[in-house]
Amino acid sequence: MTSRRPSVFVTRHLPGPALERLAVATDVEVWPEELPPPPEKLAGKAQQSDALLTLLTDRIDAALLHIAPNLLVVSNMATGFDNIDVPAATERGVLVTRTPGVLSETTADFAFALLFAVARRVVEGNRYVRAGRWKTWGPETLLGQDVHGATLGIVGLGGIGRVVARRADGFGMRVLYTGPSPKPDAESELGVEFRALAELLRASDFVSLHAPLTPETKHLINARTLRLMKPTAMLVNTGRGPLVDQAALYEALRSGVIAAAALDVTDPEPMSPDDPLLTLPNFIVTPHIASASVATRSRMALLAAENLLTALRGEIPAHAVDPQVGDAWRQRLRERFGAQS
Ligand code: DGY
Repeated sequence: MTSRRPSVFVTRHLPGPALERLAVATDVEVWPEELPPPPEKLAGKAQQSDALLTLLTDRIDAALLHIAPNLLVVSNMATGFDNIDVPAATERGVLVTRTPGVLSETTADFAFALLFAVARRVVEGNRYVRAGRWKTWGPETLLGQDVHGATLGIVGLGGIGRVVARRADGFGMRVLYTGPSPKPDAESELGVEFRALAELLRASDFVSLHAPLTPETKHLINARTLRLMKPTAMLVNTGRGPLVDQAALYEALRSGVIAAAALDVTDPEPMSPDDPLLTLPNFIVTPHIASASVATRSRMALLAAENLLTALRGEIPAHAVDPQVGDAWRQRLRERFGAQS
């Protein structure tokens, strides 16, 4: 047992009061650069730290966990945790936490920003004016599609998907959803209707992706499923890039299988400036910023810090991904920090 303070490595500077909060109870080191720590640096820091505060750009895999046997907590500042090998963490008695909830409203706002941008050709209109092509009011210039009254298909009715459904109600949309199983509570609360994926894709004017990335959801949107969509349909992805097979999306957009797509998340990230999708007028992309409001990013950072501190006190935070680390994990904390855990 020691009386030293826990050491925490934070993989980027964070907005809001999170770092100050951490510094009250721990020795904090913050990676000072704009780009994430390279894997070998991250591995070195993981070896020296009791806890990591990570972002979705940090890969915490079995190899890193193997060489960092002292690590007790990985607090991920994201609702998604596909950057972390959770089974490997659990096996090594490392508690993993995440930050759901606090970003749902902001992410849903942005899903609608993208949906409107493609439906009403906002980015094309902007380019048109800047290129000096605006000569007159044209009755057929840049005609888009109405959002109000359209059918929205939500793939993944979790925390964010539900908030998107609420927004859609305000626009008079009919909302279908799909996922592993129907959610009767959501159906009565939100008036949404469950469909199998294929049926949802056939019936929707807009499809918005909010499923977690798992082996089952990887390339859920592929050449086959894109062909089920209406030729007028538009795809929005604010979930995870690999939900979509981008080569298939390129072909579908180029050949008119679907009308347009807007991605906030890509595979890989960042998207290469040479990506063929960027040559298409019916494609828009943003750099994974759906949760990027000042207030929300500060809340995410603070929740990640609080999750980490709660864990270091020996409690399992509400947003633990692998609460089953349980007794063995508590024992390791106790051995290292004594009474406080
Ligand atoms: C998350 O929290 O998983 C988001 O992708 C971050 O914006």
